[in-house]
Amino acid sequence: MGEKITLSVIKADVGGYVGHSSVHPKLLETAERSLAGNKLLIDYHVARVGDDINLIMTHKYGVDCPEIHHLAWNVFLNCTETARELKQYGAGQDLLSDAFSGNIKGMGPGVAEMEFEERKSEPVIIFAADKTEPGAWNFPLYKMFADPFNTIGLVIDPKMHEGFCFEVYDLVNNERVEFNLPEEMYDLLVFIGAPGRYCIKSVYSRTSNEIAAVSSTQRLNLMAGRYVGKDDPVCIVRCQSGLPAVGEALEPFANPHLVAGWMRGSHIGPLMPVGLNDASPTRFDGPPRVVAMGFQLAQGKLIGPKDLFADVAFDRARQTANEIANYLRSLGPFEPHRLPLEDMEYTTMPEVMSRLKHRFTRVGPKKAKVSGV
Ligand code: 13P
Ligand code: 13P
Ligand code: MG
Ligand code: MG
Repeated sequence: MGEKITLSVIKADVGGYVGHSSVHPKLLETAERSLAGNKLLIDYHVARVGDDINLIMTHKYGVDCPEIHHLAWNVFLNCTETARELKQYGAGQDLLSDAFSGNIKGMGPGVAEMEFEERKSEPVIIFAADKTEPGAWNFPLYKMFADPFNTIGLVIDPKMHEGFCFEVYDLVNNERVEFNLPEEMYDLLVFIGAPGRYCIKSVYSRTSNEIAAVSSTQRLNLMAGRYVGKDDPVCIVRCQSGLPAVGEALEPFANPHLVAGWMRGSHIGPLMPVGLNDASPTRFDGPPRVVAMGFQLAQGKLIGPKDLFADVAFDRARQTANEIANYLRSLGPFEPHRLPLEDMEYTTMPEVMSRLKHRFTRVGPKKAKVSGV
């Protein structure tokens, strides 16, 4: 058995430039400087999508390693300091606690980590999205690992034909459950079709039992008076040799699906796949963006990134996303562009209701009578 390596992607929004659209280059420099030469890491890469900073790190200490989480926490603290100097918008937004408590999960930042033995060739894709939530990966992960119309490997590659095991989190009840596909496909879809509550956490090959994908989905924690764990997400996907080809992992994004999280975290919009240079959502703070960074790992070194959505073949998807965005915008404050009341991050409803309560008059019996009750 060879030595295992861990790929950790830890992300946070610690200040936007300008508003919530991007990250100032000085914050990225601070992150680089804070990680440079660190003895715990084999390699690292600092990236961003929208106003979120992604720390992509390789090491030998496994998932949930307190030292690695603490390192990321300190990087974000340093970046917050830079953000405060430059008066960036929402400086320190995602750091919800004053003191590090051993595991960065539930403290604001998002975490996706996996440990594996590096294969003869180890292509991985790190997807990172802004203006959405972890459930946004449900649709593309399902397509990649379960839909033969997306992934022909499920049909013709003997190492994929047995299918994949999906681990799903129920974010409301804080429970997890596994589904074996293809035979439990319909059961899985009942749940993951509701991505605000049921999120795919990880995917395993049933042939090799190898980890294939992991998302930054985490259980919801009540911190600072609101639930956290539903923030702009990241996802790691390993590719080739019994796992989806790189092109099969990218293909679901050619058909932009609708996700929650646009403008004030309170609107639905299409998830637009973009190159790294276009990952600054500005129209109505969106539409939501996703980037795909391809790496070949070599003894834990991150060879890359290759900017996979920069391909002109995704121009059509961007055009479709813009058309969907235009249509949804025309609905203004009406659902389904605006999220249902219970899902909005912002609302004036309690205040408006208490002010207008006395003007509401009864138009019928208090509760509609249901026959037989
Ligand atoms: P592998 O089985 O080597 O991953 O090859 C599949 C492929 O990339 C063909 O497009
Ligand atoms: P972020 O979650 O990316 O900070 O966006 C907040 C927002 O409400 C933008 O309109
Ligand atoms: Mg922000
Ligand atoms: Mg963001």
